[in-house]
Amino acid sequence: MMTEREQLEESVAYLSEIFGTQVADIALILGSGLGQFGEELSETIAIPYKEIPYFPVSTAPGHTGKLLTGDLGGRHIICMQGRFHHYEGYSMQTIAYPIKVLKLLGVKYLILTNAAGCLNEKWQPGDLMVISDHIKLQAESPLTGQQQDGLLGPRFFDMSNAYDAELRKYAREIASRQHIAIKEGVYQYFTGPNFETPAEIRAARLLGADAVGMSTVPEAITAAYLGLRTLGLSCLTNMGAGMTKKAIDGNDVLETSMKVKDTFTAYMKQLVTEWPR
Ligand code: HPA
Repeated sequence: MMTEREQLEESVAYLSEIFGTQVADIALILGSGLGQFGEELSETIAIPYKEIPYFPVSTAPGHTGKLLTGDLGGRHIICMQGRFHHYEGYSMQTIAYPIKVLKLLGVKYLILTNAAGCLNEKWQPGDLMVISDHIKLQAESPLTGQQQDGLLGPRFFDMSNAYDAELRKYAREIASRQHIAIKEGVYQYFTGPNFETPAEIRAARLLGADAVGMSTVPEAITAAYLGLRTLGLSCLTNMGAGMTKKAIDGNDVLETSMKVKDTFTAYMKQLVTEWPR
């Protein structure tokens, strides 16, 4: 049986051969509605996940499942077009795998984007939010069961700067220059695929959550373990269950993320272009 370390080395060797020597130091994981961001890149190379040895394959709608590299505003970046969710049946450990690959490819910064429910009554659907911190009450971690040999980070690791304070400040500055009234708050993870119950939303609000969603947290935990500096951005697509009279509808989520797409894309472009070196 191959160890995970050996599998990772094979994934990385395959990608390094295609990517060549140009190393991207920023990786972006594109959430619902942002999949087309890849079209902003030039000199693009696209590799379907299914061609990368040991890489998982994504199934969620709007998640095409390709690794892209290319240039954006003079910066060479990698995008994961399509991500892996626990609700698709992937284990937490499988969700961690691509993040480990990115680290071994030489990535230093990770930008995680998602669509999320809004729990803060002062905000509204269509708002963008910088993630300041997260809450995960589920037992399993993407690092559960990690073997001691072949570790890529410490067994026990700190989460107090998992959403890098300097990067958050930088993200707020860029937003303000673009006249985007960006919010900042706590994202609470739910595994889905059901949207939350109104009682769960009330509980999350009591705990201090400003947003809820079904992604990002497994990746952010893995990134903290690997020492990647992380920025998380949410597109708030709907108010949490029970906060309005309307039932939560997946189509509304997609519709709002489509409405915000141009603003979000322009913002991301500026973020990457001026990203600290
Ligand atoms: N809950 C969980 N995930 C989501 C939501 C929500 O209300 N909206 C978009 N993703």
